[in-house]
Amino acid sequence: MKAIVVTDQAAGTAGMTLAERPVPEPAGNDVLVEVHASGFTPGELDWEPTWVDRLGRDRTPSTPGHELAGVVRALGYGTRGLSVGQRVFGLTDWTRDGTLAEYTAVEARNLAPLPGDLDFTVGASLPISGLTAWQGLFVHGRFQVGQSVLVHGAAGGVGSMVTQLAREAGAYVIGTGRAADRQTALDIGAHEFVDLQDDSLADVGEVDLVFDIFGGEIQKRSASLVRSGGTLVSIAGPVEARPAEGLAIDFVVEADRAQLSEIAQRVREGRLRTIIGKVATLDDAVAAFNPAERVKGKTIVRVRP
Ligand SMILES: NC(=O)c1ccc[n+]([C@@H]2O[C@H](COP(=O)([O-])OP(=O)(O)OC[C@H]3O[C@@H](n4cnc5c(N)ncnc54)[C@H](OP(=O)(O)O)[C@@H]3O)[C@@H](O)[C@H]2O)c1
Repeated sequence: MKAIVVTDQAAGTAGMTLAERPVPEPAGNDVLVEVHASGFTPGELDWEPTWVDRLGRDRTPSTPGHELAGVVRALGYGTRGLSVGQRVFGLTDWTRDGTLAEYTAVEARNLAPLPGDLDFTVGASLPISGLTAWQGLFVHGRFQVGQSVLVHGAAGGVGSMVTQLAREAGAYVIGTGRAADRQTALDIGAHEFVDLQDDSLADVGEVDLVFDIFGGEIQKRSASLVRSGGTLVSIAGPVEARPAEGLAIDFVVEADRAQLSEIAQRVREGRLRTIIGKVATLDDAVAAFNPAERVKGKTIVRVRP
């Protein structure tokens, strides 16, 4: 099968090549998925699990990309809950070969059924941003109706999902980002927008929940805005700043079938949308991830037309 592989951590996206690889065998509790659409995050090339397995052993050449939408073609020993021919989408294991390939083997529990009226391209754009937003807001942030939420990077992949989910769940949403992101953030549901270059973050006043994607100085300034009993949730690595009288939590997104299904249902009903900037083929994927070609919105690789 055709797959994108990486062998050289120092090379970044320039080290991605299209290669011929064996079709993976589904292990116990796995499904073999025929990949129709794949999502890739450039940051993966800096993550240890892209290069080594759980025991720290070199696992190159490895195939990146951990979001997928496709069709189940085979079941591993003992696999239950999904069947051959079923449309699925989800998030694959960071330490195994990923989804920029014609086939991938993934634990069935990491996938959810993809409803027939959701396109594969949309399905592959949802897992990381949708699950990260859901888990940060509802699981780690323990959001409650009526709370105020400061959403950093509100027009970006994760932030746009947080903004929409929070607004619909009954939050007062303050989005942040660059000046050029203001209209997008307001259009998808932010009540207010703070341009991090030119507006004062301190003017936001107290909030119940901060959803941080940046870390560093912005995280520090945001922590001081968290009201007593509130929470700062970060996806930017270990938290460096804690609210004086609140909690600080950082987490890494996990696959979750029930949450994926909640997200898909909202997209079907037009209550949630992803921002897809570019759709490339597997043959063009390497060029599509060149930083010089960067576009706003998620790049999805359509592995099968
Ligand atoms: N821990 C986890 O589980 C997890 C999960 C998902 C993502 N992440 C991480 O979270 C981060 C965000 O991911 P994403 O997919 O949402 O990225 P994204 O789509 O690039 O969104 C980031 C948004 O923030 C804006 N932005 C960036 N730097 C800014 C600055 N200095 N001032 C104002 N706005 C700025 C970006 O604008 P421009 O596009 O103009 O730069 C964009 O709108 C990434 O570092 C990613 O690796 C972590």
